[in-house]
Amino acid sequence: MPVLKDKKILVTGLTGSVGYPVARRLAADNEVWGAARFSSARRRARLEEAGVTCAEVDLVVADFGGLPDDFDYVLNFAVLHPPDFDTALAANAEGIGLLMGHCRRAAAVLHCSSTGVYQPDGRHPFKESDPLGDNHRPAGLTTYSISKIAAEAVVRCTARFLDIPTTIARLNVPYGDSWGWPRMHAEMMASGADIALHTEEPNVFNPIHEDDILGLIPGLLEAAAVPATVVNWAGPDTVSVEEWCGYVGSIIGAEPRFTRTPAAIPSVAVDTTRMVELIGPARVGWRQGFARMAEDLLNSRAG
Ligand SMILES: NC(=O)c1ccc[n+]([C@@H]2O[C@H](COP(=O)([O-])OP(=O)(O)OC[C@H]3O[C@@H](n4cnc5c(N)ncnc54)[C@H](OP(=O)(O)O)[C@@H]3O)[C@@H](O)[C@H]2O)c1
Repeated sequence: MPVLKDKKILVTGLTGSVGYPVARRLAADNEVWGAARFSSARRRARLEEAGVTCAEVDLVVADFGGLPDDFDYVLNFAVLHPPDFDTALAANAEGIGLLMGHCRRAAAVLHCSSTGVYQPDGRHPFKESDPLGDNHRPAGLTTYSISKIAAEAVVRCTARFLDIPTTIARLNVPYGDSWGWPRMHAEMMASGADIALHTEEPNVFNPIHEDDILGLIPGLLEAAAVPATVVNWAGPDTVSVEEWCGYVGSIIGAEPRFTRTPAAIPSVAVDTTRMVELIGPARVGWRQGFARMAEDLLNSRAG
């Protein structure tokens, strides 16, 4: 897979689950700046240790005075989950539009969206052209899907208005050896807790490992265009939570226990045809990635 080297890159949302490992790993070969409120001082310190220059930015306020405006690339991983739409639209939609205005000289912008923008439709593998809807509301994330859809609209408009090559990548379930929703399941199993899943079983997704998230970023930036490129960003396999918990449980020596509720995120499997044509496939198969994650959990418990 291609790598990014010697570029000046702005990463937002770099104290969060996805942006944190991405920013740290990119900082090894690039000049990485990070924009966030830095609610976690510990994460800020770890990012600075990795060589990231941290600039305090609240996307709701959108004051970018402390940021340069000569980035090669902008990677937007920021997201806020407030209960009110005014704040959600300001942080998730307006914020990235205004940031693109500040960084209009960038060679490309990668906006991380979510496959949580698709209208739930059983286990149908969603294509980019499929209907959008309020996917995450049943799980209590009342502003998430709608503000992520609004963000896509703002990013599309800004890309055309300012002629900035842009990719909107709809991320499925991200995970690494030590983080993500699958890791939360593993920890719940290890502590004997029940895992609440949607009543429509099996609950299928296309989990994507941190190595692939990072490995596909150069391709996503190369695919940036005006009008914006819209593409799913997902792992190579469709697998159910039920199956992955069974597999991880067999490694860590725990039996998964599920409860069923309509108040959970419904299945979101995706069609990766467009992604593979544009940038190639993700390479970490689910068994390989989940075995690594399970081993990491065992090691952390042993240590
Ligand atoms: N995690 C998943 O399972 C998943 C699945 C599909 C798609 N995605 C997408 O992946 C991206 C990253 O998600 P994540 O799970 O890593 O999110 P996260 O863990 O909730 O982190 C959110 C990040 O956004 C920053 N942020 C929030 N409000 C901000 C504000 N007002 N101003 C500036 N920064 C702000 C936070 O930093 P501070 O608090 O320090 O400001 C944090 O770094 C998002 O686009 C999300 O929609 C995630």
